[in-house]
Amino acid sequence: MAIEKLIQSLPKAELHLHIEGSLEPALMWQLANKHQVVLPYQSVAEIEAAYQFEDLQSFLDLYYAGADVLRDEDDFFQLMWSYLNKCRQENIVHAEIMFDPQTHTERGIGFEVFMAGFERAIAQARQQWGMSTLLIMSFLRHLPEADAFSTLEEARPYYDQIAAIGLDSSELGHPPEKFERVFARVRELGLKVVAHAGEEGPADYIWQAIKLLEVDRIDHGVNCQQDQKLVEYLIQQQLPLTVCPLSNLKLKVIEKMDHHNILQLLEAGMLVTVNSDDPTYFGGYLNENYRQLHAALGMNTAQLKQLLINSFKASFLPESQKQHWI
Ligand code: HPA
Ligand code: ZN
Repeated sequence: MAIEKLIQSLPKAELHLHIEGSLEPALMWQLANKHQVVLPYQSVAEIEAAYQFEDLQSFLDLYYAGADVLRDEDDFFQLMWSYLNKCRQENIVHAEIMFDPQTHTERGIGFEVFMAGFERAIAQARQQWGMSTLLIMSFLRHLPEADAFSTLEEARPYYDQIAAIGLDSSELGHPPEKFERVFARVRELGLKVVAHAGEEGPADYIWQAIKLLEVDRIDHGVNCQQDQKLVEYLIQQQLPLTVCPLSNLKLKVIEKMDHHNILQLLEAGMLVTVNSDDPTYFGGYLNENYRQLHAALGMNTAQLKQLLINSFKASFLPESQKQHWI
């Protein structure tokens, strides 16, 4: 079978997806009209045309501004429902979905609003087609650690709906060590830990995430090759990286897709996975990421199959459920 068909038809897991980064321009436009939010755009086409980024920060500025149209429970339901339907179309059978509570609580929108919307969509997808999901609550690292502590406290009634806690937003200048104490508390609560590291930041931030936060996975991590000892450690420990090729291209972490190091890392024996990060902002959902790896790097069928196995291996599913897909 041609590789394009395998990409579409084989079952996949997605482990690095920000739900706020799956907001389609059409839904943004519709919700802005619903809530009379004034956007700096005159049409859906203008929103799409604005998605040209220089770096992570230039993207984050638009991403947080876009999230301002999300106001009530039904908005969060529609956001989640729309992504879960994409999963169905793309044969993503399991998704570990990040959300940024501080982007909403800072605007006066509480956990009871977004969690109810997310849960309604998740339950409906589970009932209708057996969709499997886990939620990852992420702290915004440009805010103080004290805010992360209070967010963790606010989330208390929802701990049984949260599988892991992550760390995202502006990486440079906000190293993992800033959050060492709050992640110690997260681990005491029995939650898994992930952190964005080595996207724009140096290999040392990946070491900090490993040694100080004791992460179960690294999000991005593509800068790991700056440090050969780190590469060896990641291979030896089989500590997963959730890599996002189209994101790296759009945020200019790499100049061209054929410069991406994901297949080198895979061939070296690292547990790398492919993910879409913020698909509506970066020009493609998960399958488009795989297609571009084939087009630009010549990813072959064996590599594709290994990446798909890795997506389940690196997930937080119980061992018995992982084996079902591997
Ligand atoms: N990096 C950091 N923060 C983010 C990202 C990302 O790729 N996407 C959404 N928040
Ligand atoms: Zn991300």
